[in-house]
Formats: sequence, C-alpha cells, structure tokens
Amino acid sequence: MHKSGPLTRTLPLTLNFILALCSLVPQAVAERGTNGREREEQIMRNAKAAEVLRYMNREADPCNNFYDFACGNWASHQPTLLEGDAPISVQSQLAQRVRKDVQMLLDGGARSKGRTNLDERKVKEFYKSCIVVERSSSLQQAFLMNFIKEYEGLPLLAGTNWNMNYDWVQVVARLRLNYGFDYLIGMEVVTTEHSLPGKAVIQLTEPATSLLPRHLCSGGAILDTRLVEKHTAQLQIEIALDLQSWFGLKEEETERVAGDIIRFELELCQYMRENESLPPTENDEPEPSVYEGRDLARLSKDFGNIINFRRYLETSLNSTVANSEIAMKSPAYFKNLARIARLNPRPTLTNYIMYRALAEINFPRNETSTPRAGYCAQLTMRFFPKVVGEIYKNRYQRSEIRTDAEQLFDKIKGTLSESLNVNDLSENAQRTLRNKLLAFERLLFPIYKGVNLRDLPLEHTNFWHKQDIAMKFKGYKERQRFYGGDPDLDESLVEAFDIRMQLLDNGIMTGWGLLQPPFYDYSYAKSLKYALLGPLIARELAAALIPDELETELTRDDSIMEIFDNVTECYRTQYSNYLYNIPNVFYNASKLRELMTDSAGLNIAFKAYLGWLADMVPTGNDRQTLLRETLPGVDFTNTQLFFIVFAQSRCHAKYVKEMPPTFLPLDTHTEELFNVNGVLGNNVEFAREFGCVLGTDMNPDDKCTMF
Ligand SMILES: *[C@@H]1O[C@H](CO)[C@@H](O)[C@H](O)[C@H]1NC(C)=O
Ligand SMILES: *[C@@H]1O[C@H](CO)[C@@H](O)[C@H](O)[C@H]1NC(C)=O
Ligand SMILES: *[C@@H]1O[C@H](CO)[C@@H](O)[C@H](O)[C@H]1NC(C)=O
Ligand SMILES: *[C@@H]1O[C@H](CO)[C@@H](O)[C@H](O)[C@H]1NC(C)=O
Ligand SMILES: *[C@@H]1O[C@H](CO)[C@@H](O)[C@H](O)[C@H]1NC(C)=O
Repeated sequence: MHKSGPLTRTLPLTLNFILALCSLVPQAVAERGTNGREREEQIMRNAKAAEVLRYMNREADPCNNFYDFACGNWASHQPTLLEGDAPISVQSQLAQRVRKDVQMLLDGGARSKGRTNLDERKVKEFYKSCIVVERSSSLQQAFLMNFIKEYEGLPLLAGTNWNMNYDWVQVVARLRLNYGFDYLIGMEVVTTEHSLPGKAVIQLTEPATSLLPRHLCSGGAILDTRLVEKHTAQLQIEIALDLQSWFGLKEEETERVAGDIIRFELELCQYMRENESLPPTENDEPEPSVYEGRDLARLSKDFGNIINFRRYLETSLNSTVANSEIAMKSPAYFKNLARIARLNPRPTLTNYIMYRALAEINFPRNETSTPRAGYCAQLTMRFFPKVVGEIYKNRYQRSEIRTDAEQLFDKIKGTLSESLNVNDLSENAQRTLRNKLLAFERLLFPIYKGVNLRDLPLEHTNFWHKQDIAMKFKGYKERQRFYGGDPDLDESLVEAFDIRMQLLDNGIMTGWGLLQPPFYDYSYAKSLKYALLGPLIARELAAALIPDELETELTRDDSIMEIFDNVTECYRTQYSNYLYNIPNVFYNASKLRELMTDSAGLNIAFKAYLGWLADMVPTGNDRQTLLRETLPGVDFTNTQLFFIVFAQSRCHAKYVKEMPPTFLPLDTHTEELFNVNGVLGNNVEFAREFGCVLGTDMNPDDKCTMF
C-alpha cells in the first residue's frame, strides 16, 4: 500500500541541502536571541544536541544496525543493571519521572486557596499513611486474619475456619464484588451509550492477570519448559518467603504450599492467550456462544456443571442478570478451568486464590528494589485516579502545548487520509476508510468534574483499613458500568498522569504525562515533535483502520481484507525470519498488529513532516523556523535527525549475563532491536536519507508496508 509521491522524492533533497548549510552557523542564531524565551530555547537545544550525540555510537554503520548507531551508548548512561532488575526503556524512564512528580505533588500540602479541597486532602493523607506504616505489625496481622476469615479461611492457618465445604466460585465472586479482583474467572461488562441499566452485555473471558509474567503464561510459552522452569523456581521461592513473612511460618511449612500454587497456575496458563502463542487452528473457530441471562443453567451444564455461572455473576455484580446477555469468549479456557477445579484438592484452590489476594494487600517483599514512596504513589494513582489526575493536570497542563499537539494531530490525520489514495484499494474501500478516519475528530485531554470522597471514611483509621476502603471504592467504581452505563466511561480510560495515548470513539486521548521530555518539549523543533509524538498519534489512527475480528464495514470489503491479510503475512515472515531464521513460526497476532501499526505510524509521521516542510517558504520568518530544524553541532540534516530521534525514543537496556558470541548473529536479534531496525528497514525514505544500498540489513528488498 506504499506510494511515494513526487513530493517525497524531490523535496527533501532541496531542503536538506539548505538545512545542511544552515546547521553550520548555529552561533549566529543564538546571538540573535534576546528575550528570555529564546535563551531558554537555546539552552534546551544545546542540551538536546548533547543528549542525541551522547547516546549515539558513531562508529556503527547506520546501514547495518541503526539501533547500534542511534542507541549504542544509551545503556552505558543508565544505572548498572543487576540480575533480576527490570529492563530500562525510555518509556520506563518516563513512567519513573511521572511517579516522582506525583510523589512531589502528594507530598505538598493541600491547596489552601479557594475552597479547601477535601478530596485532595483525603488522598494526600492516604499517601502519607502509606509512607509511614510499618510493613508488619500487630495491626497488620489483625487485619490479615480478619480478611482471611471473611473469605472462608486458609487451610494453612488454624483458626481461620477453613472447611471442606469451601466454595471457590463464591469466594472469587465476592472478591470481585468487593475489590474488582479477577481471579480464575475473567469478566468484562460491555456497555454502549444505548445500554439500559442492568442490560449490558457481559463477557466471560480469561483472567487478565497472572502471577507469572504475561509472556510466560500462555499455551505456547508453557511448551518452552526450560524457560518456564527457571522462572517458576524463582517464583516458588518468593511465594514461600511471602508466606513466611506474613504469618511467621517456617520454611518447611511453606514449601509445599508454594509449589502447589505454582503448579496450579501453570495448569491455568496452559490454556491462556492461545491466539498470541499458538498456530491458528485450521478448523473454523466456533462463533462465541451467547447465553440468555435466564438460561445460565445451560451455560453451567455446557461446562460440566462445575461452575455455577448464575451465582457467580449475581454475586459479583450484586444484581440479577436475568435481562442480560452473557457471551462466552474463551470456551477452551473455561473447559480447562472446570477440569482442573474438579481435579485439584480444595486446599490448592484456596491457597491460590488467597495468596493472590494477600499479595495485593501487603507491601512488596523487597523494599530495596521497590522503594516505598514510589509504591505508595502508585497505589494512590490506582485507587484515586480522578483526584490524582486532577492534581497532576492542574500542575502540568498548558494551553500552548495543547494547541501545539492538536495541530500535530491534524497534520497527521490529513496525511493518513491522503495516503489512502492508492491503487490497490477500491474506491469504495478508500471512502470507507476515510469516513472512518473522520470520526476521530481531535486530540482529547482528560477532563475532571471533581469526584466526591466526602463519604469515604478515610480518616481516623490505620493504613490497612484505609487501603481496604480504597480498594472497595475502586471495585465499586468499576461495577458502576453494569448499572446504568457510566456516561463518563470514555473519559476514565486515560488519566492526566498517564504516559500513553488511547483511541476513543471520537478522537485520541493523551495523558499530560506523555507531553514531557524526552518525548515532548514545547521548544523542540518540528523535526523532533514529528519524530516523537507523530508516530504515536499515527499509530493509533492506523490501528483504527485495520479491521479486527468483529464484522464491520471494513471486514466486508474484499480489497481491504486482502491487503490486510497480505501485509500480516509479510510481517509474520519477516519477523519469524528475524527472530528464528525460519519463516512462519511467530504466532502472536497482537504483536504482528503492533508491528504493522508501528510501521504505519513511522511512515505517516515522516510523510507528515515532509508535508510541513513543503508548506514552509524558505524566506523571511519561515527561514528562521527552518534554521531551527537541526540541532547545534549535530551534523545531520533535519530529516536524518528525524530518524535518529525516533530510534532514540526506543532505546532500552536489559541485564545480560555475558555478551552473546558474535558468531551467532541471531542471538543479537531481539524484539527491542526489531522495534527500531525492523520498523526503519520497512521505510523507503529511511534508506535514502542514510544512503543505504538495497540489500543491506537496513534496506531489505522484502519490505512490508501498510499506508
Ligand atoms: C503478544 O504481543 C503483545 C504485544 O506486543 C504482548 O503484550 C503480549 O505479551 C504477547 N503475548 C505473549 C503470550 O507473548
Ligand atoms: C448489594 O446490594 C444491596 C441491595 O441493593 C446493597 O444494600 C448492598 O450494599 C450492595 N453490596 C455492595 C457490596 O455493593
Ligand atoms: C532486594 O533487592 C535488592 C536490589 O535489587 C537486592 O540487592 C537485595 O538482595 C534484595 N533483597 C532481598 C531480601 O531479596
Ligand atoms: C496478496 O497476495 C497474493 C498471493 O501472494 C497475491 O497474488 C496478491 O496480488 C496480493 N494482493 C495484494 C493486494 O497485494
Ligand atoms: C485473542 O483472544 C483474546 C481473548 O479471546 C481477545 O480479547 C483478543 O482480542 C485476541 N487477540 C487477537 C489479536 O485476536
């Protein structure tokens, strides 16, 4: 679907030439800056220039490994990673920055101007009590024991009233009702603006969370026994240590229980995330079955009468579901769940469920690797997203940034719309896609109408009780969707402190947390803004145009489906070859979709940047603007800089035991590297900008492109 217009071929060459000359005289520009703003901008430009150069490895060949060229020195400027440490990425740095900023905001006193903000004060108090509470004390012990008793006990602990009539379905339903926990049974309530109260569609799904990391908890991953065994052994030790520290148990008392918990989870994982890790099954997928709310006995019967679905749903939603529709989304998972629930002894089910709940209540075991203040800031964001979001927004929103980002959005959307004008798409398909794009009117920012925590009794009580109230409050908020269809549902998806964008029905919502350096600064040149924010916006819009499984106008058009299927296969082959040197062994459909939208995002953002350049008149004021498109002392053209900065927004570092031997080149082919090299390698203009000959690693002849 790629089409290089005449514009993209000729224009950049001329402009690059002008700009290349201009980058040699940055001093002259600096001296002209007289007012504070320009001086500030100059300081920022110098700092950014130094940063770009610092992370690059100029020895590397950009046509062989662009990641190394742009990010080769990035890791050496990060803290040294030890075994077990989480990898560092630009995203994780940004998340950390936001966490620090939120910590600072929560540490400050409540605003005293105007009406005293009760909500703000309550939330700050919650944060403070989280900071100072002892991680284990008699208060905490008492709280835990009460909690365990309330949910039918734990066989490990005498005196918690556990007995053989333990009803696991009822316990997980009550944990969902009170706290929104999704153990064993996943559930989503799908509302539309037309849903009547209590009439939403309820989907039964795999649970979204697991003890094992996501990529290890899947049907495909479980087959890789060596990888999984290494992780499970570690996790088993950690579970045993947790149980020892919470209840003062001895090592030998906890070993077997920890082993049971892990084994049980592995059995669950065996049937999870199949579409992300196993080859698609040849026989046609059965349509997801839909059951009437009054007919749930049939659903239970279809799954061996092990799970009383009516009771589960009515308990967890605290309401009748007689008038709802229930869609069974993951039949293979539920068949398996029914089987292992029947085969495993009750104590194993109990231990699994209760361990997961207790792990959410207690502090992380190792407070050196998870410092308390950061953890508490995160809890506060999780439980009171609206209050913290509003505080964050009041501190960081700026109308000029908003306007700037909105303009970028318009340019990107316009460019995407134009690039749909390709021959292999039918007229009808082009029209359908363009209309679809029109619905996404603008860039949206979280708005806050104030919540009311007045009745939330957070004061005068210890942290454990406060946290319990907060967790229940969050569970209650989530349940609101079922009753009444929350009109503000869309607006609750992204908070001001979030560092991501999300596609909604009428636009893309972005958190203010994303509009911070290194991703964004008001004084960045357009080359930087288009390279950093541009692909994020374009990627969301492109994703909206890729047909999904649901039957829509898009999936009915054969020309769209054919292109989409071809492009998917192209990426599958490319990525399988890259990772494993065998075509067709990579199955994660979500990842393939991500590669496709990532690649579209980069292509569109670069085209949009060229479009912006073309609108500039290289005289007068525009000339001044164009002069700032490069960075002082960085001898790359503005368009080369675009790709370098794009790559640098994806640098990462992770712990490696030893350098992989160089005679096994495939060992250095990682997902993170492909996210830079693979995406750039599929971009035609990239190769031209860096003069990469066709057939070099960064300019393969089997490019995959969509838009
Ligand atoms: C599949 O890819 C998605 C997107 O990259 C990722 O979040 C998910 O963990 C992957 N699934 C598995 C089972 O690895
Ligand atoms: C469940 O509903 C009843 C009656 O409507 C109500 O009194 C009770 O507080 C609700 N329970 C929860 C946990 O929301
Ligand atoms: C906690 O984490 C730190 C840093 O990762 C590590 O050095 C330390 O050994 C850990 N302590 C325990 C008790 O696991
Ligand atoms: C899709 O792939 C098939 C088989 O490789 C090819 O014949 C067809 O022309 C491709 N269609 C498009 C629109 O690229
Ligand atoms: C994989 O299956 C899950 C659960 O059924 C579904 O939510 C998800 O959208 C599917 N992913 C893809 C890429 O089809």
